[in-house]
Amino acid sequence: MVQSEYILNLENISKAFGPIRAVDGVSLSVRRGSIAGLIGPNGSGKSTLFNVISGTEGKFSGSVVFDGKRINGMPSHKIFALGLGRTFQTPRLFTGMTVLENVMLAGKRQEGENPLIAPFPERWESGEEDLARRAQEQMKALEISQLYEKNSSEISGGQMKLLQLANVLIGDPKMLLLDEPTAGVAPRLAQDIFASIEKHCRETGTTFFIIEHRLQVLFKHVDHVFVMHQGRIISEGKPDEIVKNQEVIDAYLGE
Ligand SMILES: Nc1ncnc2c1ncn2[C@@H]1O[C@H](COP(=O)(O)OP(=O)(O)OP(=O)(O)O)[C@@H](O)[C@H]1O
Ligand SMILES: [Mg+2]
Repeated sequence: MVQSEYILNLENISKAFGPIRAVDGVSLSVRRGSIAGLIGPNGSGKSTLFNVISGTEGKFSGSVVFDGKRINGMPSHKIFALGLGRTFQTPRLFTGMTVLENVMLAGKRQEGENPLIAPFPERWESGEEDLARRAQEQMKALEISQLYEKNSSEISGGQMKLLQLANVLIGDPKMLLLDEPTAGVAPRLAQDIFASIEKHCRETGTTFFIIEHRLQVLFKHVDHVFVMHQGRIISEGKPDEIVKNQEVIDAYLGE
């Protein structure tokens, strides 16, 4: 089968909450192996769109095609198993486990093994040592190695973001949706996060679709930007085209 140039195709996606049209007729395509950005003012529908794509938003209208397959209405774990991972705007971690155990847990779910034994190193099998090694490598790349032994409830919001990123990266997804990966993170670290995302993309061919409010950092690393406003995509293009677009400027200044 010839692979399509686009790994994700959305057609006419709409999602309403009562009278609020959170997502209102969105059609877009994300190129395979690229880094795409999704920007827009607060409440413009960005997270809702990611929830729709990843199967966590319940009923919606329109069509979602991922890697040549229509995934509308599939449960989120099935979508994840197809290679579409995501992180949440508000991190969800398992408390009562160490940071390393949390990262490994995500890798195990991807491989469909029993997640319940992940926290117990003495019960790891050979594949699990490999998983632990990959988890440690990923945490080193994101500069959170010093957190291995900490309990997940002891770390900061920014560290939690990084942890969540390490978490999904070791699952080796085809595509990742990241909802504000640098929120609550120090500016220098935000740069590092994007640098490591870009490195990962170029080395592995993983496609990234990233919601981000820090436009300066985002624009340095993305190939393509979509601008959302009141549930619609009002503009798309290369970062240098987007910064000059009057409609985009108005959407932000109109806040
Ligand atoms: N579960 C929900 N129930 C009711 N309204 C919701 C729900 N989720 C989102 N909304 C509304 O839908 C609209 C879009 O919200 P969404 O969270 O998708 O925006 P966003 O672009 O991610 O914003 P932010 O940049 O602040 O994260 C908002 O008006 C929001 O209040
Ligand atoms: Mg959001």
